[in-house]
Amino acid sequence: MKKMLVIAVASLLASQAFAADPIKDRKEAFKQYKPVVGQMGKMVKGETPYNKDEFAKLATQLEELSQKPWQYFPAGSTAGKTDAKPEIWSKPAEWKQAIDKHKAATAQLKQVALGGDLAAIKKQFGATQQTCKACHDAFRKD
Ligand code: HEC
Repeated sequence: MKKMLVIAVASLLASQAFAADPIKDRKEAFKQYKPVVGQMGKMVKGETPYNKDEFAKLATQLEELSQKPWQYFPAGSTAGKTDAKPEIWSKPAEWKQAIDKHKAATAQLKQVALGGDLAAIKKQFGATQQTCKACHDAFRKD
């Protein structure tokens, strides 16, 4: 009985440690971007047929995803396997600006996607990807 209690406490602690691992959480959030951006990219490039509703659904998902990773960058969360550069915390204004630009680009992409003008979509998809790249260049180790 006592042993079972010890196991229960140990697994509770383990699950709390898991929940309190912001590096893991933010990586997980970024990983969710990949399939969504990948599918959109294929449609934009014509590798899969463009479908207005499907693209709009993906753009809506991307806009939701773009709200998520930033809560998992608490000060000091640099210990462990992370590619986050210290500039995230030493240049908070630039970091915030990179996030805001990214959110604005994805919101705009969603609007354009709902409109269904493929030329405009291509342009805005490129602009959105540029906000990923710009932030990675400045704030992610390569
Ligand atoms: C405002 C900054 C910023 C923006 C915008 C941004 N990222 Fe990142 N991204 C990061 C940082 C910082 C990391 C490193 C996280 C870590 O290792 O702790 C990262 C990591 C990643 C990873 C690797 C996750 C892993 O498993 O280690 C992927 C994939 C990724 N980003 C994709 C994207 C895509 C796609 C976009 C645009 C749709 C994007 N990111 C936009 C900052 C950003």
